[in-house]
Amino acid sequence: MPLTEMDSDRMPNHIAVIMDGNGRWAEARGLERNAGHRAGLENVREIVRASGDLGLKYLTLYAFSSENWERPKGEVSELMHLLEHFLEEDLEEAVSQGVRIRAVGRLDRLPPSTRTAVDKAMQATRRNTERHLILALSYGARAEIVDAARGLVRSVARGDLDPEQIDEKIFASHLYVPDVPDPDLMIRTGGEYRVSNFLLWQIAYSELYSAPVMWPDFHRAEFEEAILDYAGRERRFGLTGAQARSGSVKPPSDGVPEK
Ligand code: IPE
Ligand code: IPE
Ligand code: MG
Repeated sequence: MPLTEMDSDRMPNHIAVIMDGNGRWAEARGLERNAGHRAGLENVREIVRASGDLGLKYLTLYAFSSENWERPKGEVSELMHLLEHFLEEDLEEAVSQGVRIRAVGRLDRLPPSTRTAVDKAMQATRRNTERHLILALSYGARAEIVDAARGLVRSVARGDLDPEQIDEKIFASHLYVPDVPDPDLMIRTGGEYRVSNFLLWQIAYSELYSAPVMWPDFHRAEFEEAILDYAGRERRFGLTGAQARSGSVKPPSDGVPEK
């Protein structure tokens, strides 16, 4: 079934992607790892465009993890450079297409020029509400949870919050982008079956999909295949299959205020 004929209520609202395999892609071609990152960036453009065409509301891309800082200097600086390049080159397109760009992670660790490009993109697109592109940069989910805990402790210390009031909703409201709903689908390319410190809190009930191809080869067709696979699944959120099929299932609260 082509995606265009799919029931729109089976379309995920939020897809998160662990873009893995750039290095292996390059090594398999006898190229240096950075050539894989350059090819990976080209593919970011393709998947962002495809998401727009498919009407996907939220796309989160894992671009650089807390742990990736430990990679060789030349690789880290190429990744930062590519990121800046993407933010600068594609900003106009994002603005015109109503995409709001945000970055999540320990952004204070970014080199000044990368930080400037990130801030500029966030600022220029802050009024967009149509679609959301969230870039996880210098991001680690454990750090995000620690930062949320720190925020809560500060509120308690100020006397603004009673510890007894802290529940999952309040906790989630201290995460980096509390207005973004939890991912429905999490894709990892590169054939690996691990989470690597990505969105630990938010993926409690996400559907997982591992694609065998490396990120630079994960094109629109592979992306659509992942979405179709998702659309065929039954999400239960802890209930029985019969309850789930009755249509009354709701995912556990993700901290996004109810309308
Ligand atoms: C993903 O590709 C990009 C980043 C982690 C920044 P890798 O660079 O991890 O590629 P592999 O996993 O070594 O092939
Ligand atoms: C996850 O990939 C991080 C990003 C895609 C940015 P890694 O290549 O860093 O993960 P591991 O080392 O295989 O777990
Ligand atoms: Mg990797």
